This record gives sequence, C-alpha cells and structure tokens, in this order.
Amino acid sequence: MIMKNIAIFASGEGTNAQQIIDYFKDNKSIRIALVVSNKITANVLNRAKASGIPTLVINKVDFYINNKTVEDLQKFNIDLIVLAGFLWMIPESLIKAFPGKIINIHPALLPKFGGKGMYGINVHKAVIEAKEKESGISIHYVNDKYDEGEIISQHGCEVSENETPESLALKIQQLEHTNYPKVIENLINNN
Ligand code: GAR
Repeated sequence: MIMKNIAIFASGEGTNAQQIIDYFKDNKSIRIALVVSNKITANVLNRAKASGIPTLVINKVDFYINNKTVEDLQKFNIDLIVLAGFLWMIPESLIKAFPGKIINIHPALLPKFGGKGMYGINVHKAVIEAKEKESGISIHYVNDKYDEGEIISQHGCEVSENETPESLALKIQQLEHTNYPKVIENLINNN
C-alpha cells in the first residue's frame, strides 16, 4: 500500500496537531511525516518530538522569498498539508506547488467571522458580540485569501444564552478534535 504523507503546520499549542498525530499513529497508509512551525518556542514542536515526528522551523525568507520551504516539503514527499492554528499567510508559491492539497481549520462557520486577525479567542468574542445563536468549525481548502477557500465540511454547536468566549472556545475545541482527523482521513481515502 502506498504511504500518504501529511505535514501539519501549527504556530502554537498544537492540541489539534496532537489529536491528528494520535489518530493516525497506527495507520498503515497515512503518516504524519512532518510538523512545521514558524515559531521555535511553539509547544507543537515538543508534541511532535515526543511522538518521534520530524520538525521543521521556518523563517520568512525561506517561506516567502527563496522557495526553500517548498523544497523541504518535497523532500518529505508530502501529499497533504494540514494547517492547525498556523498564523502565517500561505504564499502563492506553496499553493502552486501543492494545488488542492492544503487545508485549514477555522473556529467559526465561514464565511462569517473569518479574515485577518480572526484567530482563536478573537473569533469567539466576535461571535458572542454579534449575538449569534450558532457557531462551529469550518474545514476548507486554502487559497491566497484568508479563510476564503472552498469549504470541505462544517460542524455546528449552539451558542448558549450565557456563553462566554472561553466556554465557546471549549465547545469549539471539542468539535475540532472530534472532526478534523476524520475529515483528513476521508479526504485522503477519497482522492
Ligand atoms: C484552533 O482553534 C484553530 O481553529 C484556530 O487556532 C486554534 C489552534 O489551537 N485557527 C484559527 O483561528 C485560524 N484562523 P491548537 O494550537 O490548540 O490546535
């Protein structure tokens, strides 16, 4: 069976990355081949190392200017790039090198509450301020505009009367952890 290689990109804590790593741990045809971060202190790098997964810390020159990151990814024969809380904009060179092979998770129901600066708790604050009755997660392809690529799947949850950004964050995190690994698996198995 041909092995499919995933690279996870994350900038911070990496709880989603952890779920994905654990989910595919014993998989015979899908492997987390690499964890990439723009931040050397990101805890996601410790998580990767603890699971014996190679890591790559990128800088802006390699990522945006000289194409070195694309070359590094190609060395690992990456089939799918999974963004999980990755804060840098994806350059066109990377999108061109991996067409239709980069996906992202966003902690709201796009197209609402997306765009620049809409990250983590900011998203949940905006949802509550707008008095939304429902929020959720969106898993989507990445194109050259923040949060505007084609949606692959969405999963919703209720925003309660007395919801706080923190309580909503927990609900959303649960939805992400349950759904992201399965969506990735389906995507790989059906392509
Ligand atoms: C996740 O909630 C993800 O949806 C969000 O960052 C968090 C990362 O958490 N991404 C965005 O807001 C993208 N705009 P984690 O590091 O614990 O996985």
